[in-house]
Amino acid sequence: MKLILSILILLNISYGSVVQNYLDELKQEAKKENPNFVDFDVTNGEKIFTSKHIGKKGKEISCTSCHGNDLRKNGQNFFTGKFIKPLSRKVNPERFSKTATIKKWLKRNFNDVYNREGTAIEKGDVVSYILSKE
Ligand code: HEC
Repeated sequence: MKLILSILILLNISYGSVVQNYLDELKQEAKKENPNFVDFDVTNGEKIFTSKHIGKKGKEISCTSCHGNDLRKNGQNFFTGKFIKPLSRKVNPERFSKTATIKKWLKRNFNDVYNREGTAIEKGDVVSYILSKE
């Protein structure tokens, strides 16, 4: 029983810290981008997530065009119409549990909306915003 409890606690710690480790990694990069960098900015993250830009295929879109405004609800892909599970970990615990998945989709999705990959500061801002909205 004790062993099972210890394993559960360990799993929980490593699970919860995936996105925290990723944010720490982004912070190190952010300091290289801007020596005066202090911390990620949720307000700027909101702007990044909700503002519209001419993105992929010359269409005007934002992150919310696919993920919606309520992160606890399903989104719908602007291009394909496919449903996208909520970004909120409260209703979709798989979110932000694998660094490779987070990196892959941020890179792809920044390109969809901004036609470029996004800086470490921008990624940190927008991830902090998403986590703050859960
Ligand atoms: C064209 C539609 C589209 C747009 C625009 C879009 N996304 Fe996504 N996003 C997806 C899809 C599809 C997935 C992967 C499918 C899934 O995870 O349900 C995804 C996955 C993600 C994930 C993965 C999280 C995880 O760990 O599972 C994050 C974070 C994310 N998007 C953030 C963003 C941000 C930030 C923007 C704006 C810069 C954005 N998305 C714009 C479609 C989009």
